[in-house]
Amino acid sequence: MSLRVGILTGGGDCPGLNAVIRAVVRRASCETKAEVLGVKNGWRGLIEDDVQTLTRMSVTGILPRGGTILGTSRTNPNDGADYAERIRVTWQKHKLDALIVVGGEGTLRAARDVWHEYQLPIVGIPKTIDNDLDGTDFPFGFDTAVNTVMEAVDRLHSTAESHHRIMVIEVMGRHSGWLAAYGGIAGGADVILVPEHPFRLSKVCELLRHRERQGSAFSIIVVAEDAHPHEDEDFLDEAAKSQIYRGGRLGGIGFHLASAIERETGIETRQANLGYIQRGGSPSAFDRVLATRFGVKAFESVLEKRWGQMVALRGNKVVCVPLDDAVRKVKKLDDEIYHVAEIFFG
Ligand code: F6P
Repeated sequence: MSLRVGILTGGGDCPGLNAVIRAVVRRASCETKAEVLGVKNGWRGLIEDDVQTLTRMSVTGILPRGGTILGTSRTNPNDGADYAERIRVTWQKHKLDALIVVGGEGTLRAARDVWHEYQLPIVGIPKTIDNDLDGTDFPFGFDTAVNTVMEAVDRLHSTAESHHRIMVIEVMGRHSGWLAAYGGIAGGADVILVPEHPFRLSKVCELLRHRERQGSAFSIIVVAEDAHPHEDEDFLDEAAKSQIYRGGRLGGIGFHLASAIERETGIETRQANLGYIQRGGSPSAFDRVLATRFGVKAFESVLEKRWGQMVALRGNKVVCVPLDDAVRKVKKLDDEIYHVAEIFFG
């Protein structure tokens, strides 16, 4: 009997998506009668019947490539009145037996809802540069983004040092501080600001002045895009806030923080927002291996009919966890990691 498995990549792209697509297709090719159908642009492909057959040839050479050959979107299958029906029509037309959903928190939450509400056989795979999915120690994509941040911090270090400046570096991560903390620790940042620990501008400036008194004429601050001032020292006016928190999209805290620091300390301060550079590029060896292990495990989970599960890394083992558990809450930065980061402040 033949087996037809769909695969889609949804939400923000990240390094390793092509590696995981390749792994699913290659594992499928070990079965005599399995076919993989690539669904284009996340859930939108199922709604609009935009699919393509994936063969061994179509995934040749994609392992090191950033992005996703399938395209992605933030379309939510639960947001449109007729989406459920359109997905069902596409599903039946292509005689799908299962769907592998590769996504972050939003895409996998939608997968959990689709699995519950439409009873479609789904297996999830976690990817995100934010590392905010609760069910897995790490998704793929995070390690490459950390390396990108680290390299950027190294480069900005030398220019900050040469000019005796403070450099504020804004990184992504949505509502979690993982990327800022890992990238900042790896790059030797002097201050790391994360959403989990609202900061006081006066404390940050004191750390910078302390460094200056100790003879360090430059400083590096890594700030997560959702890091925010403590409510008793809120230096952001309403205009700044509406610029930074644009209806769910984040970005700009670094700019406002740099201006405030220069004003308070009198030390020349510049800022750099790393932006979408953190999402691009060739995956690290760690992410290639993890994405490959996830892809193989996800396909084998389909063979075992383990619906409503997400593959996950626990310690060094790839296991399956219920999607329900994986998306129940956003994974916040571990206190132990923040404690390590703090030791190096100032
Ligand atoms: O979830 C990944 C991420 O890059 C976040 O770090 C960031 O806040 C968001 O996506 C940006 O989303 P978009 O691509 O929709 O601008």
